[in-house]
Amino acid sequence: MASRPRLLLENARQAVLVSARGERFLAGAAARGLAVLEGVSLVVGADGFIEAIGPADVIQKQFSEATFEERIDCSGKCLVDAHTHPVWAGERVHEFVMKLAGATYMDIHQAGGGINFTVERTRQASEEELFRSLQQRLQCMLRAGTTLVECKSGYGLALKEELKMLRVIERARRELPVGISATYCGAHAVPRGKTALEAADDIISNHLPKLKELGRNGEMHIDNIDVFCEEGVFDLDSTRRILQSGKEMGLQINFHGDELHPMRAAELGAELGARAVSHLEEVSDAGITAMAAAGCCAVLLPTTAYMLRLKQPRARKMLDEGVIVALGSDFNPNAYCFSMPMVMHLACVNMRMSMPEALAAATINAAYALGKSHTHGSLEVGKQGDFIVINASRWEHLIYQFGGHHELIEYVIVKGKVI
Ligand code: NIG
Ligand code: FE
Repeated sequence: MASRPRLLLENARQAVLVSARGERFLAGAAARGLAVLEGVSLVVGADGFIEAIGPADVIQKQFSEATFEERIDCSGKCLVDAHTHPVWAGERVHEFVMKLAGATYMDIHQAGGGINFTVERTRQASEEELFRSLQQRLQCMLRAGTTLVECKSGYGLALKEELKMLRVIERARRELPVGISATYCGAHAVPRGKTALEAADDIISNHLPKLKELGRNGEMHIDNIDVFCEEGVFDLDSTRRILQSGKEMGLQINFHGDELHPMRAAELGAELGARAVSHLEEVSDAGITAMAAAGCCAVLLPTTAYMLRLKQPRARKMLDEGVIVALGSDFNPNAYCFSMPMVMHLACVNMRMSMPEALAAATINAAYALGKSHTHGSLEVGKQGDFIVINASRWEHLIYQFGGHHELIEYVIVKGKVI
């Protein structure tokens, strides 16, 4: 007898299929057309992957002989967070006070606060301390429905310190139930006493070869390379050199661009074949056109534009031009948000996305931004059995409601196991 299916989700009042046709992303009009099935059941096999999904009576007949490890009678999607900085030590609540009083992000950064403040505290923290806080943060994200999350380094800057952060992420990848896409972000700020050019040289000649060696030995798995491409941080040329070198060693390019100043980062992303560019508040028209043509995903971060009172990224124009739009929480000491439901809510209200567009952006397109949409981001046979069950009459409550998500989200399921 075949091994026992792990989970039966019975009689879901509504199941939202972000895609049922094997797409790797949803762009343009497709991002508005989710299939909402009424009265369905879903089976996750012993391997943690979805075995069947369909009308409750059909599934009941098909699996009439089967006994399940677990059955959930529900009324019930998995969320993917495409951009976070979750490994750090030291509070920055005092900077929130400064921002409320009118200071800009760059005022604080140039006065030695911001990323540099967190770098100092993170360097002082032990690996164990960093792991414990990461574990707690990922737990909060899971409870808010995120089952796959991108995790960046970038508060170490020096090679030894970046490796410490990356080991913490690797340990989380191996030990914790949430799926992780690991990003090396050593070019998050220019270390004190160095120029951007010198920092880029150090990354290319010393950091990347070390990461390659660790990858080859199976000690560490890194998926993406990131650079903070911004005026006063890494300029376009240094960004290009770092990203190109990362790509040559097999990393996916996924970087911060066009956030506070127009940098032509979107154009660079398209030129380099980047998987994704994040932020894009200041993206040019030509950058949007280039991203659409290159299939380069725009990872929009509504929490950051909200917190820093920036102009909103032009989500509508990107969607209308066929850019693949994804969402991320950008969880970091500046934008302290664990919740993708909150991110979707902000995307709808402030960036004028529709609820289906926001859901596609926080599921299949976010998985695409991480190169994982063949296994994650939608309820389809053969994909990993990750989803959430909510206690509401309609799926839209996940976005409509702001706050109180712990009561709304009844179950978070990863690989068919209730977390
Ligand atoms: O995406 N913009 C660069 N990085 C982060 C902020 C990191 C920090 O302020 O600590 C972001 O918003
Ligand atoms: Fe970020």
